[in-house]
Amino acid sequence: MKALVLCGGRGTRLRPLTYSLPKQLLPIANRPILAYVFDHLYAAKIKEVGVIVSPESHPAIKEFLGDGTVWDTRIQYLLQEEPLGLAHAVKVARQFLGDDPFVMYLGDNLLQDGVLPLLNLFQSERVDALIMLKRVANPTAFGVAVLDSQGRVGRLIEKPRDPPSDLALVGVYLFSPRIHQVIDTLKPSWRGELEITDAIQELIESGARVKPVIADGWWLDTGKKDDLLSANHIVLETYCLRQLAGTLKDSSVEGNVNIAATATVTSSRITGPGVIGEGVKIENSWLGPFVSIGDGCVIKNSRVEHSVILKNSVVENVFHISQSLIGREVRVRGNPDTHPNLRLLLSDFSEVEF
Ligand code: DAU
Repeated sequence: MKALVLCGGRGTRLRPLTYSLPKQLLPIANRPILAYVFDHLYAAKIKEVGVIVSPESHPAIKEFLGDGTVWDTRIQYLLQEEPLGLAHAVKVARQFLGDDPFVMYLGDNLLQDGVLPLLNLFQSERVDALIMLKRVANPTAFGVAVLDSQGRVGRLIEKPRDPPSDLALVGVYLFSPRIHQVIDTLKPSWRGELEITDAIQELIESGARVKPVIADGWWLDTGKKDDLLSANHIVLETYCLRQLAGTLKDSSVEGNVNIAATATVTSSRITGPGVIGEGVKIENSWLGPFVSIGDGCVIKNSRVEHSVILKNSVVENVFHISQSLIGREVRVRGNPDTHPNLRLLLSDFSEVEF
C-alpha cells in the first residue's frame, strides 16, 4: 500500500496568504495541516509516500517534510507543472504508484479518525475504490454522491449547482490500480480539470466495486479562511491539553491552554482552549478562547480571540481582533484611544496601523 498526498494547486481561496505559503502548510493549533496528514499515514504504517507538488509549493513542502524520516516513511516528490485536476495528479504519479493499491489524501483535508479504519475496510472488502462521504450544509462546494436504496453509489457530481444530495466526497480515497485504466480515458471537465469524481463515476460504470463509507467523526476542508478557523476551533477543542510550561507573571489562565517553555505572559489573561508558541511575549492582554499564536509573536495591550496568528508577528494596542488569520512577520499597530473590532486576513509581512 502506497500513499499519494496532494500538495499542488493554487490555493486561490486563501489568497493573499497563499502567495507566500502553500495552504497545506498553514497551521492549525500551531502545526501545519500536512503534519496531521502524515501522522495519519504513520498510524496506518504506510512507508512509501508520493507527494504531488507544484513549482511554487515544492521548496516549502520539501523543507517541511524532508525525506519523511520523522514519520518513518520514504517520500518521493512528484512535480505537477500545472494544477490540471486531482485525477491528473494521479497520472503524474503513475510511475511511482506502479500496480500497487494506494490511498490518496488531499493535503488540505483534516480527518478525525485518520485512514487506518478505511484501509482495513478496503483490504477486507477487496473493492476497487473506497470513498468517504460526509453530510454537509453546503454541498455546492464539493463533489457530491447520490446513493441508491441499497446504499450503493449511483452518481457522483463535482461541485453541482443544484445538488441532488448533501453527501460530500471527503478528500481521502483508496484505489486499486484499476483507477489508472479509467483515468487514461478521462476528458477534462467544464473547468478544464481531470476530475477524480469523474474517474470514480467511470469506475462504477465499468462494473468495478466502489464502496462508500459515511464518516462518523469530523472532517475539515481548510480551503477558505472561515474553514481554517473552524478547523483551528475543532482541533484545539479535541486535542489541546493544559500545559503551562512558560513563565507567567501576574496572569491568569483558564481551561486548556498550552504555553511553550520559552513563552512569557505578563499581566494578562488567557482563556482556553489555545496554544502559545515558543518565544511568544504576551503583555497586558486578553487572549482566547480559540487562539493559536505562532512562535516568536508579541502581543501587547490587545484583545485577541478566535484567531490564528503565524510566526513572528506583532499585535500592539489593538482593542479587539476576532475571526482573523494573520500571516508571518505581520505588524498590526493600533491606537489606545480607538476601539475598533477587527477581522483580518493578512499575508506575510503585512503592516497595518490605525
Ligand atoms: O475537500 C474535498 C473536495 O476536494 C472534494 O469534495 C471534491 O470532490 C474534490 O474535487 C476537491 O475539491 P476542492 O475544490 O476542495 O479541491 P482543491 O482544488 O482545493 O484541491 C484539493 C487539494 O489537492 C489541495 O491540497 C490542492 C491539491 N491539488 C489540486 C489540484 C486541482 C493538486 O495537488 N493538484 C491539482 O491539480
